[in-house]
Amino acid sequence: MAERARDQVCRTALDTSPGARACTSAEIPVSGTMAQVQYDCSRGNHPNVTNSTASPVGHEQIQLLLRVCKEAKKSAYCPYSRFPVGAALLTGDGKIFSGCNVENACYPLGVCAERTAIQKAVSEGYVNFRAMAIASNTEEDFIVPCGACRQVMREFGRDWDIYMTKPDGTYIVKTLQELLPLSFGPEDLKKF
Ligand code: THU
Repeated sequence: MAERARDQVCRTALDTSPGARACTSAEIPVSGTMAQVQYDCSRGNHPNVTNSTASPVGHEQIQLLLRVCKEAKKSAYCPYSRFPVGAALLTGDGKIFSGCNVENACYPLGVCAERTAIQKAVSEGYVNFRAMAIASNTEEDFIVPCGACRQVMREFGRDWDIYMTKPDGTYIVKTLQELLPLSFGPEDLKKF
């Protein structure tokens, strides 16, 4: 059920066009396996990362994430690419951090919206994530996270969901595991 639903392309409640319908949380489970501890990251001075979810992300929270990432896109600093992106990151305890891409005249220093949101959250003490939504202005395709962002997301577990949207409010949702299979993460450093 979870796998089937993940590939669905849904219209959201924000989309009022004819034929649009709201996705229910039952159709879009955020996590196939609940209460599963991803790993115990006990090194260093930050809390354990357990991005397992006590309950699936509800419809209202998904709608909120979709709105917040669209809003965050308005803050994008992208004078070079002119490609604004917004992100909204939902933490395990229900807090939402927004992010936008922040470019630089020294091009490689630019940061994607997804990483901005993650860095904001981590710097405030949050490392347990349930979901992230991403928005861009691309009408034809769902915005997908770049490889670097997938790896940064993966640091915080594999069992959380990424909502990739179009401006019309439709989206697809995939887990980190689906976006970055056979990944390298913190637990691999403990294997030697
Ligand atoms: N960008 C993001 O912020 N997120 C993505 O998912 C894809 C790309 C940004 C990076 C850069 O500022 C601009 O979009 C063009 O690549």
